[in-house]
Amino acid sequence: MQQVNAPRSTLADRATPRFGQSRAVSLDTGTLDGETVGEITVDNPKMTTRAVDVHYGDKHAIMAVSLDIGENEVIAMIGPSGCGKSTFLRCLNRMNDTIEGCRVGGEIRLEGRDIHDPQLDVVQLRARVGMVFQKPNPFPKSIYDNVAYGPRIHGLVSDRAETDAIVQRSLERAGLWNEVKDRLAQPGTGLSGGQQQRLCIARAIAVDPEVILMDEPCSALDPIATARIEELIDELRANYTIAIVTHSMQQAARVSQRTAYFHLGRLVEVGETNQIFTNPRHKLTEDYITGRFG
Ligand SMILES: Nc1ncnc2c1ncn2[C@@H]1O[C@H](COP(=O)(O)OP(=O)(O)OP(=O)(O)O)[C@@H](O)[C@H]1O
Ligand SMILES: [Mg+2]
Repeated sequence: MQQVNAPRSTLADRATPRFGQSRAVSLDTGTLDGETVGEITVDNPKMTTRAVDVHYGDKHAIMAVSLDIGENEVIAMIGPSGCGKSTFLRCLNRMNDTIEGCRVGGEIRLEGRDIHDPQLDVVQLRARVGMVFQKPNPFPKSIYDNVAYGPRIHGLVSDRAETDAIVQRSLERAGLWNEVKDRLAQPGTGLSGGQQQRLCIARAIAVDPEVILMDEPCSALDPIATARIEELIDELRANYTIAIVTHSMQQAARVSQRTAYFHLGRLVEVGETNQIFTNPRHKLTEDYITGRFG
């Protein structure tokens, strides 16, 4: 049988049993009873997640996931449909709080601070950890007001000139300015799907978040807009941390430095993007990236 994973001793020697994930790893069969293969920690974490579990009623959607997300890194989250990528992403800014019957356990920290601390203001958290959803969801407001909304409610602007400047800069960075500059007063919902998505990206970056969560942000975009967003992601990485869910392995390879592979609610493997795509250590990762399933 082909041995695609690390030798058992390497995994046993790893100093990561502190997160309560001590189940044995099935190296040969690639079954799911193992702890995550690869290094879940980074030297400069922006966010840390430990033993995160998510339930929707009786459905156990995320199981004991521990993962660091590094400062100024782009981490890609990949895996078959239904494996829990969106669910895990939503944990990072407590977006699952808004879903009836959803329970999140384990520990999630932003710069060391527990994001479930009752003292923590969740509105502030979501300003620091912004999100772009799979389906564009502009507010029923003008293009201008969609982008200006966040800076206004967070008190980042004091007059019209400042607001104009943030709106223009955000739309430029999202690659939408030229298409909308002459119709800023028109409703955001009147734009095409791809334009709406870029509007939502402009809205997310307008408040200058520290972390940006992107859930398949390019699934409604054409190749030109996709390329623009990928450039933007690269640009944003200088100042921000980005976690992106994508079904496109080419996209993951182009934009990310680390990749996390999820399968049936578990984090199977994480590593340098290059290593994940050229030399996966877990059989399930290998099966997925070579197109045997998913
Ligand atoms: N609101 C919800 N209520 C009940 N179950 C849910 C809910 N949202 C997700 N689930 C379930 O949790 C699991 C993980 O779903 P999730 O949407 O996180 O997967 P995903 O990896 O993002 O999939 P996709 O690639 O299709 O977007 C699935 O089994 C899904 O059916
Ligand atoms: Mg999803």
